[in-house]
Amino acid sequence: MKRFAAAVLACASASAFAAAPPAPALDLFVRADKGNCIACHQLPDGAGPATRADVGPRLEGARMRTLGRSALRQALVDPMRANPDTVMPPFGRHRLLDAAEIDRLVEFLVALP
Ligand code: HEC
Repeated sequence: MKRFAAAVLACASASAFAAAPPAPALDLFVRADKGNCIACHQLPDGAGPATRADVGPRLEGARMRTLGRSALRQALVDPMRANPDTVMPPFGRHRLLDAAEIDRLVEFLVALP
């Protein structure tokens, strides 16, 4: 009986996990098990944690809107198509982020101050 209860509990928590709301875009940007973008890029003041990361350029809203959604999506799916030597990981091609996560990050980037 005890074992049965444990199994039911395990299932309940597994389904609670599956039903959890998707991580907000800032989460995707910051989390080491997601984009970990924060390791390489700084965000405008107030848009996320302040860091000194400078492997990639600081991501400013005006620049993101100039690049546009489709170039940004391409940069996240596979930045190596634009620059074969880049150190930025190909998040889409390597399935580090799924299409919905990439879309949420693109919206996050174009909305930056
Ligand atoms: C390992 C470091 C690294 C990580 C992690 C990284 N990037 Fe980059 N990123 C770069 C570098 C370096 C560039 C400069 C372009 C190049 O190398 O071709 C760049 C370029 C960009 C650009 C184009 C900027 C511009 O002004 O042209 C965007 C947008 C971008 N990254 C977004 C992201 C996002 C969003 C994430 C997380 C999902 C991320 N990057 C993760 C290193 C990184």
